[in-house]
Amino acid sequence: MSVIRSVILATGHYLPERVVDNSWFEARLDTSDQWIRERTGIARRHFAAEGETTSDLGLRAAQDALDRAGLTAGDLDAIVLATSTPDLTFPAVATMVQQGLGMTRGFAFDVQAVCAGFVFALANADGMIRSGQAKRVMVIGAETFSRIMDWSDRSTCVLFGDGAGAVILEAAEGDGSAKDRGILASDLNSDGRYRELLYVDGGVSSTGTAGVLRMQGNLVFRHAVEKLAKTATTTLDRAGLAPGDIDWLVPHQANARIITSTAQKLDLPMEKVVLTVEDHGNTSAASIPLALATADAEGRFERGDIILTEAIGGGLSWGSVVLRW
Ligand code: ACO
Repeated sequence: MSVIRSVILATGHYLPERVVDNSWFEARLDTSDQWIRERTGIARRHFAAEGETTSDLGLRAAQDALDRAGLTAGDLDAIVLATSTPDLTFPAVATMVQQGLGMTRGFAFDVQAVCAGFVFALANADGMIRSGQAKRVMVIGAETFSRIMDWSDRSTCVLFGDGAGAVILEAAEGDGSAKDRGILASDLNSDGRYRELLYVDGGVSSTGTAGVLRMQGNLVFRHAVEKLAKTATTTLDRAGLAPGDIDWLVPHQANARIITSTAQKLDLPMEKVVLTVEDHGNTSAASIPLALATADAEGRFERGDIILTEAIGGGLSWGSVVLRW
């Protein structure tokens, strides 16, 4: 049976110039490089410059992906951008990237599922491609989490960073089996009962301010370990695959301990896991496309490899996507 699949044509990324290592926090807070490294695996992160916005980061990543694909903005039908840190309340950051690229046709919109945003955006773009609404879609994750930090809260501000990653998805014909290239299956979940575990304490219709991030990290940690392993096996089942088929796990980069434990539950050696949290910190919706683009630029993926991505974030929202490179 002939089916439409969404194949990754190219990836791109952008990290702001300013690199902040753990010693920057040691000088300001009751914390240590050792604590941050041991509890999170993070050594450094990038922070956007003053005046540098989420759309600036997203635009750089998108342009990088177009350059690597040898395409121009006119070759795209749509842009789907995942972020929780938009430049403005509206319009969508995706439309700012659209304008920046010089793309004057098609459509562009944002997806908001916090750290799970890229997985949600990827699954939605895949749905649009498979339904014939678009043939080529730029999917971006872009964040400036440094703008929603409480700099006096050592339990959150040491964790996050800024950045953007992008992939270009293109419609391709498949036979409907797990041998096809492209996105093979996905699984999306959310449960609003867990809102208090991870949220931003401001917003347009409540306080009229942007607010800062609040997190009960140890409770999020427990949900992450359980829910990420479950969504991974659900997605693999849907694709007719088993954990042993995975060539690469490209997880949301929140905490090296969560990633290690998910890999263990899937019986995957760490050599098959793309780990960028040490250099990027948690860049929320940008972390998976940044990790994908970093590994791609290093030539780590081979055509035909099975790649599993998974993420959990505020909402709680969580999910996974499995694809063949
Ligand atoms: N430096 C030193 N000590 C610290 C720091 C710090 N930066 N931060 C917290 N501590 C202290 C706490 O105050 C606490 O001290 P106490 O025992 O005296 O009260 C102690 O360390 C232990 O705190 P826990 O919160 O229990 O530490 P834990 O081992 O759980 O690590 C962490 C905290 C890193 C936040 C971890 O819970 C985590 O990674 N959670 C998941 C984060 C995540 O995945 N988020 C989802 C995505 S984010 C998104 O959607 C936006």
